[in-house]
This record gives sequence, structure tokens and C-alpha cells, in this order.
Amino acid sequence: MEEKERRTIQTARSVAAEKSGEDAQIEGSLRPVSLAHYIGQQKIKESLQIYIEAAKKRQESLDHLLFYGPPGLGKTTLAQILAHEMEVNIRITSGPAIEKPGDMAAILNNLRQGDILFIDEIHRLNRQVEEVLYPAMEDYAIDIMIGKGPTARSVRLELPHFTLIGATTRAGMLTAPLRDRFGIIHRMEYYDPEELRQIILQSARVLQVEVDGAGALEMAKRSRGTPRLANRILKRVRDYAEVRYDGRITEEIASEALNLMDVDAKGLDHTDQNILLTMIHKFEGGPVGLDTLAAATGEDAGTIEDVYEPYLLKEGFIMRTPRGRVVTEAAYVHLGFLKRG
Ligand SMILES: Nc1ncnc2c1ncn2[C@@H]1O[C@H](COP(=O)(O)OP(=O)(O)OP(=O)(O)O)[C@@H](O)[C@H]1O
Ligand SMILES: [Mg+2]
Repeated sequence: MEEKERRTIQTARSVAAEKSGEDAQIEGSLRPVSLAHYIGQQKIKESLQIYIEAAKKRQESLDHLLFYGPPGLGKTTLAQILAHEMEVNIRITSGPAIEKPGDMAAILNNLRQGDILFIDEIHRLNRQVEEVLYPAMEDYAIDIMIGKGPTARSVRLELPHFTLIGATTRAGMLTAPLRDRFGIIHRMEYYDPEELRQIILQSARVLQVEVDGAGALEMAKRSRGTPRLANRILKRVRDYAEVRYDGRITEEIASEALNLMDVDAKGLDHTDQNILLTMIHKFEGGPVGLDTLAAATGEDAGTIEDVYEPYLLKEGFIMRTPRGRVVTEAAYVHLGFLKRG
């Protein structure tokens, strides 16, 4: 399936972690602007605080950073916060949007000292465009060819010192020369329920929704470790609470609303369950290869690998073995095939 098509289909689903049009509208208002309001990801936050202070003291730009991990965990948000904390401009673009080496050169040439260039889906840059980045990242320069044929010569153009922030859901698809040019590589971690609870309470204040602690926790537990989903669930549950009740979100109301949305107690939706059930019914629990599983579930292999599998692995519902994916006992228990023993 085409990437684009895949996205439209996915975003139609309520718990797909990828961004939808509606998210884009409110994400702006819910996005924390300072590191202090960025909840969780403690390790990277602490390191970043140090890098920021050091870079500011030396009046230098930050080292190039690469953030990778499943969608909706806060990569774009973190890049914007860095720009805010460093008091520099941020230019946001994405891998597939830069088609020609000349486009890349133009973007780089327009940056000012200290600016941040954020490239989303950086694994999708084409090779020639990527090659423009190598000297830019390493030496703050680009090589431009002038003329054609035997008289052609290459001219080196100096660039201001800038910071490249790359984001990707697929670190494995980055070429080695590009990956090696990042000074800081950070894997974004799924958030635990307590962190998501704080994010939900913070968003509830912005949206002026009344939520009690237990209600927030219930939504947090069912957000697949993902802030984007936590915010989306909060809005859906708010609608439910307003229509059926007086608008205030309690544990019972959150739970009722989420059951109606077919999000189970662990945050699994139809697709997650379908993946597990297919493995159980058609492959006796596995091992089963990714492509076979994709064909049997009707999902795209890349989507299973980037979006669904990481959370199922993290929750311990599946395991990866050299011969393929295997369903765990925890999944049988969760789906009601086995009693907790
Ligand atoms: N640590 C956080 N604290 C509070 N809110 C957060 C945090 N991380 C993400 N969010 C919220 O989640 C939403 C999604 O985050 P963001 O767009 O940065 O994700 P992403 O990793 O860039 O996703 P994608 O891979 O799809 O681009 C944002 O609107 C933001 O409000
Ligand atoms: Mg993003």
C-alpha cells in the first residue's frame, strides 16, 4: 500500500498513533513550549538541559540531534522546545518534501547562525539530497557544481553554524553516513501511566475540561504509552461526558466512553487484537514472519512494524524470535483464553 493511502486509512481509526487533521488543529495549543512542561523522557531532558546550558555559555549551536521511535511520542514537540530554549528559529520540513539537492542547498543557505533545521521522516530523504547534508553537518558548508561538462567545477559555500534535528520512526532505515553525523542520538520511550496522567491533566487545564485524578489515570492506562493518543482520548471522553453527563470526567465515565470506543483496558484496539488473534487462530501462536502476518491481517507490514508491534512488544504480548513473532502467555491471559495462573 502507498504510504499516503496507509496514513489516511490509519488516521480514521481512533487509536492510531499517527497524526490526523484534527490533531493538527489542537496539537498547537496542547504542545508544551518549555522543557519544564515536557513531561517524562527524563533521561533526554536532563542531558538536553546540560547541552543547552553549555552551548549557550560558549555561544555555539547545539550538536545535531536524532530522535527516533514510534509516532506521537513527542519528537516534533521536543525540537520546538529546543528552539524555544535556545532562543533560535526553527525551520520545519520533512524528508519526502525535499526532492532535489538544490532544494536542500537552498534551505541550508537560508538558515541563520544558531537556527534549528528540523527534518521529519528523515529516513525518506533521497540519496542525492542526503549527500548535500554530509558536508553541511560536518563542516557547515555545501559544495555546489558550477557549469557543465569539462569546465564544471565545484565551489564550496560556507554556511552559518546550525543544528540539524532529525526525526524518524525507523532508525534502522537511516544510512550509516547520515546516522554517524549526529552527535546525539536518542530513542524516545513510551510513557508510563503516571506520566500520561500528568499530560492529560495538563491538557485538561488548557482545554478547560474537568477531570478527577482517577479519571485521568483511567485514560492514561489506555493511551498506549503515547501522548498524542492521550490527548485524543481526552477529547473523545470529554465529548461523551458532556453529552451523557455533566461534563466532568470520572473513572467510571472514562471507562464507559473508552469501552464504547473499543479501546480495551490495556489500550489495545481492534487492529492490535486482530494481530494477536490472527497469530493465535491461524498460526497457533507463532512463530510467524512479518510479511505473512501482514498478509493474514490485511495490514501493511511497515505499519505493523512501526506502529503496532513496538507497543505489543513493550507490553509483553508478543516476542520476537529468530523464526518470527510469537504470542506470549500474557496475551492469552489478556484476551481471556487463559486464566492468570
Ligand atoms: N512529553 C510530553 N509532554 C506533554 N505533551 C506531550 C509530550 N510529548 C508529546 N506531547 C503531546 O503529544 C502530541 C504529539 O507529539 P509530537 O507531535 O511531538 O509527536 P511526534 O513524535 O513528533 O509524532 P510523529 O512521529 O507522528 O511526528 C503533541 O501535541 C504534544 O501536545
Ligand atoms: Mg512529529
